[in-house]
Amino acid sequence: MRKTKVISVLLAVAMLTGLFTGCSGKASVIDTDRFVKACDKMGLSDYEFGGDDSPDEGDLEDGFYIYADEDAVEDDGVFIDQYLATFGLQDVFDSSNVESFAIAAKFAGLEDLEDLEDPDDLESIKLDGAFALQMTLDDDYSEDIMEGLEDLLEDIDISTKKLSDKEFSVTKNGGYLRLHADAAKVLKDFFDDDMRSAVKKLTGDIALSVEVNGNNILVLAGGALNAKSSSELKKFAKAFGAVNPAGVSTNDKAFGALLEFINPGMSSFTSGMGSKKVGISMPTKDLQRWNQDGDLIKKTLEAAGYEADLQYANNKVDVQISQIEDMINTGCKVLIIAAIEGNSLGTVLEKANKSGVTVIAYDRPIMDSDCVDYYISFDNYLVGQIQGEYVRNALSLDSTSGPYYIEFTAGDPGDNFAAFFYNGAMDVLRPYIDSGKLIVASGQTDFDSVATPKWSTETAQARAENIIYSCYMYPTVNIDAWLCSNDSTAWGVVNALDSTYTGSWPVITGMDCDIVNVKYIIGGKQAMSVFKDTRTLAVQAARMAGQILEGDNVAVNSSSYNNSIDIPTFLCEPVFADINNYKAILIDSGYYTEAELT
Ligand code: BGC
Repeated sequence: MRKTKVISVLLAVAMLTGLFTGCSGKASVIDTDRFVKACDKMGLSDYEFGGDDSPDEGDLEDGFYIYADEDAVEDDGVFIDQYLATFGLQDVFDSSNVESFAIAAKFAGLEDLEDLEDPDDLESIKLDGAFALQMTLDDDYSEDIMEGLEDLLEDIDISTKKLSDKEFSVTKNGGYLRLHADAAKVLKDFFDDDMRSAVKKLTGDIALSVEVNGNNILVLAGGALNAKSSSELKKFAKAFGAVNPAGVSTNDKAFGALLEFINPGMSSFTSGMGSKKVGISMPTKDLQRWNQDGDLIKKTLEAAGYEADLQYANNKVDVQISQIEDMINTGCKVLIIAAIEGNSLGTVLEKANKSGVTVIAYDRPIMDSDCVDYYISFDNYLVGQIQGEYVRNALSLDSTSGPYYIEFTAGDPGDNFAAFFYNGAMDVLRPYIDSGKLIVASGQTDFDSVATPKWSTETAQARAENIIYSCYMYPTVNIDAWLCSNDSTAWGVVNALDSTYTGSWPVITGMDCDIVNVKYIIGGKQAMSVFKDTRTLAVQAARMAGQILEGDNVAVNSSSYNNSIDIPTFLCEPVFADINNYKAILIDSGYYTEAELT
C-alpha cells in the first residue's frame, strides 16, 4: 500500500492545499547529480529507484528523493512512467526520451489533512511543501518540450503573448513557464459546493514552474496553505538554484487552466471530497481478515480523497441489507460488498441499481441478481487446489502406498464460493479416495455434510469432536490429514484435536493466514494456510471504485464469474504459507511483524 498511499496523498496535497507552488527567478541549470546533492543537503532520504521500498506518508513529512542515473534508466526505465503517473504527468512527458531521472518531495502537515472530516476544518490545516522533478533528456526532446509547452498554452487558450516574459519565455537553449496563483481562487473550481465555502477562506500560494535548460528539465511545484510562509518551497527553490517564487505575479486563470489540462482527473479527484462516497459492507468484525479488508479499503479511498462509509453486519443478513439501504440513501455512488449470504441481496441491489449505484461484489460472489456490476476476488478454485496439492505432497500420495486417513471441513453454504474452495481441493484428492489410498472414516465427503455454517470455529470444533470420538478414538486411529477450507474452521479442528485426540498430529490446511493460525504453523499444529493478501485485494477494490467514480476504464482480468451474465472480474492470485516460507511471505513483506506472531 505504501506507493499507492504516497501517490494519493501527494495528489490530495497538491490539490487540496494548492501546494502546487513553483519557483520563479532565473532558469536553473540543474542536472541529476546536482539535484541529488541538493536533496542530500536538504536532508531528504534516498529511496532506490524502482525498489520495493517506497516512501510512505511519514517519509513525505521528512522529505525523500528517488533518482535514476543513465544505467538505471536503461535497465528499469519502465518505472519512470510509474513515477510520472504518480503525479498525473504520464501523458505530458515521453519517458522514452529520458536519460536520467529524479524526483523529490517534502510536505508537512499531512496527518491533519488525512484526519480531515469536516470541510470547515480545512481552515485549521497548515500545509507546507514542495515537489521537484528533474530529467535529463535526449538532444531533440528538450526543444520539443518548449514547443510543446507553447502549443499546450495555445490549446488551453492562454496566448503566450498574454503572459509576461517572467511567466513564459523560449530561448535558444530552452526556456521556462512559471505561474503563481492564489490557492483559494484556483482551488475553488476544483471543489464541490460543500467544500467551496471552506476553500474560499484559505490563505496560501500555489505555483508551478517548468524550466528547460539545454538537456535538462526541472519541474518545481509546491507552496503553502494557511501557513505563514511556504518555507519548504523556499528551501527547494534555493537548493535547486531558483529564486524567490514571489517574483512572478499571480496568474490564477492560467494556472487553473494549466492544472486542469495537465491532469483533468484532478478536478474530479478533489471534488470527490464530500461528494463521492463509497459504501463498504463487510460481514463481520469477528474475523481478523474482514477488519483488515475493511480498514484498508477505507483508508485507501480516503487517501485518494473519497468519502467511505464502512459498516460491519455482525454476520446478520438483515443487518447487512439495512446497512446497504442506508448507504444508498446517504448518497454512496459505489458499493463494495462482501456478502454474508450471496443469494439474499437481490432486492436491495435492485434499489442500488435504480439509484444509479455501481455494485462491486468483494471476495464473495453475489448470485441471483443482475445488479452486480463487478466482481473482485482471489481465484477461489485455485485456493482449494493449492490446499489439495499441499496434502497430496505432504503425504507423498504419488510415491507411497498408504492408505492414509483424511477428514474434510468446508465453509459456509451461504457463501457461494465455499463450494469452489472445496471442489478445487476435492478435484485433486478425489482420485486417491476412489482408489482407496485415502480413507475418510466418517464417510463424509459431499459438500453439504462437511460444510460449516457461517464458517464458525465452534461449529467446526463440535463436528470434528464428533468425528474424532466416533471414528478415531476406540481404538486410536491416526488421522493423517484434515483438509480445512479456511483458518477459522482449522482453528475449530485444532481445538477438537487438542481436547479429544490421542493419535499423531495430522496435516491441517487453512486459508487467510490469520494470526492465530500462523502461530499454529510456527508451533507445528497447522501445516499451511493459503495467503490471500488482503492488501492486494483491498487496494485493488478501492482502485476499482475510483475508476468507476471517475468514469475511467475499469481494470479487469477475467470474465469467468457468471451470474446469469458474465461479470467483469478482477482475480488476484493466492499463494500458500507454511513453516518454510512464512517469514518471507508474511514478515518480510510487512504483513505482520515478528512480534505479532510470538
Ligand atoms: C473468504 C475467506 C474467509 C471466509 C470466512 C470467505 O468468503 O473467502 O477468506 O475465511 O469467508 O469469513
